[in-house]
Amino acid sequence: MRDDDVDEVMRVELRAYPFPWTAGIFRDCLRAAYPAWVLQGDAGIIGYGVLSIAADEAHVLNVCIDPVEQGQGHGRRLLRALVRIARAQGAQRVFLEVRPSNPNAIALYHDEGFNEIGRRPRYYPAHGGREDAIVMAKELLADEVARMPAL
Ligand SMILES: CC(C)(COP(=O)(O)OP(=O)(O)OC[C@H]1O[C@@H](n2cnc3c(N)ncnc32)[C@H](O)[C@@H]1OP(=O)(O)O)[C@@H](O)C(=O)NCCC(=O)NCCS
Repeated sequence: MRDDDVDEVMRVELRAYPFPWTAGIFRDCLRAAYPAWVLQGDAGIIGYGVLSIAADEAHVLNVCIDPVEQGQGHGRRLLRALVRIARAQGAQRVFLEVRPSNPNAIALYHDEGFNEIGRRPRYYPAHGGREDAIVMAKELLADEVARMPAL
């Protein structure tokens, strides 16, 4: 994702989330050199993901597919790409937060090897109050251990 992409990214962000990021948040992430990638469709950007990586831990800050493009495997492809990038940059585990009211995302994360490790109470703004975050993590080292032949 480049600065020039932010307007197009924002058009998707506003369609996809009831409580979207602002353009300023995306620009701050780019200024901080966070890994940020767009998924390009025939007619433009159809999704994007933003990571932060510090020491050996990566955090998925945003992963989003345009609502009209959802349910076709793009989100899974994008999440796998983000995990690959995290691994390539030396991360040993990847964290993310998700709303309990977002079963599609939770199903995807479970399926991709993320496990719930905790909750952040009242983390998100929500209609009529606040909503907890489910914190999920995926151990990247464990993947390699799992591929090792049994002793
Ligand atoms: C979550 C999100 C990224 C998934 O992207 P997607 O392209 O729709 O997902 P995919 O087509 O790759 O589907 C992957 C898995 O997600 C789950 N899923 C996706 N859409 C689903 C639906 N409508 N109902 C149930 N499960 C669904 C399923 O587990 C699916 O696997 P399957 O196809 O083998 O059943 C997308 O829905 C999105 O951008 N949502 C809005 C933004 C958001 O909530 N981001 C996550 C913030 S934590």
